[in-house]
Amino acid sequence: MDTNRLIFGTGVSSSKDYDGLKQVIRAAVESRILAFDTAPSYGTEEVLGRILKELSDEMVIDRESLFIQTKIDAWQMQESDGNISKYVESAMKKLGVDYIDSLLIHWPVPEYFNTTWESFVKLRRAGAVRKIGVCNVRLRHLKQFAAFDYVPDIIQIERNPLRTCGKEIDFCLEHGIEVQAYSPLCKMDERLRDSGILKKVSQKNGKSLGQTVLRWHIDTGVTPVFTSTKPQRVGEYAGIFDFKLSDEDICKISSLNIDYKMYLESMLCPGL
Ligand SMILES: NC(=O)c1ccc[n+]([C@@H]2O[C@H](COP(=O)([O-])OP(=O)(O)OC[C@H]3O[C@@H](n4cnc5c(N)ncnc54)[C@H](OP(=O)(O)O)[C@@H]3O)[C@@H](O)[C@H]2O)c1
Repeated sequence: MDTNRLIFGTGVSSSKDYDGLKQVIRAAVESRILAFDTAPSYGTEEVLGRILKELSDEMVIDRESLFIQTKIDAWQMQESDGNISKYVESAMKKLGVDYIDSLLIHWPVPEYFNTTWESFVKLRRAGAVRKIGVCNVRLRHLKQFAAFDYVPDIIQIERNPLRTCGKEIDFCLEHGIEVQAYSPLCKMDERLRDSGILKKVSQKNGKSLGQTVLRWHIDTGVTPVFTSTKPQRVGEYAGIFDFKLSDEDICKISSLNIDYKMYLESMLCPGL
């Protein structure tokens, strides 16, 4: 079992209320998924912290076994002119932790990017944050990191079989940067749900379509950040560590790429 290669997201498409979220997080933890993704804009830092504290006490899980990732939103970069440490303190308070496993810039807003990244590097060196990174980057952003003395530990990008992000992934694998895929199932878009390729590969391995897609991420070196409002589905998606895709099947799934983008960057990150 290598369930630390799956991250449960509490943002888009996730339950946000205490009861709904606790049910799915319980299902995740019972399946040994111990990594979680949040952000201030999701409004789930506090409820996630509370639920993890309760489940850790109940199931005797130590803090070191958990991986808790949050983000700095664009408005926070702008409001503080990149001096974001006060927001990290308030995130730690909300999450009920004394360090954050991973902190990501949510959107690489050009005006505040450099100062924010400098703050991130300081926080990492001080130990308040264990890993630092950036979401929503393309190859051109990654190349710009050559000018800094610290490259990201992690990037998080929209990625699924309809959007394979080959250039970014090759760059990251070459430079030792971990890649996380958000919207890894593309919300089970009908082009995936109806794909003959995915159906055949899934049948061959005795797995569901969703399990096959999540396994494709892992077998291409990427960590998926998925979500569901259904405890049963969370358990199903944890069951992907007893098989591996063949190189041929990986190529077939990757051939579904059409560079499809669900989230409009220009709306969320003006100037990107
Ligand atoms: N950094 C960023 O800018 C950014 C942006 C977006 C998302 N994220 C992160 O990524 C996480 C996941 O994002 P996402 O929700 O867009 O992606 P996703 O995990 O690809 O999609 C989840 C959605 O797909 C549905 N689904 C899953 N399996 C299904 C199946 N077999 N049949 C039908 N529907 C199915 C789920 O419905 P059910 O609830 O019914 O299971 C849910 O509505 C977020 O929670 C967040 O943590 C980050």
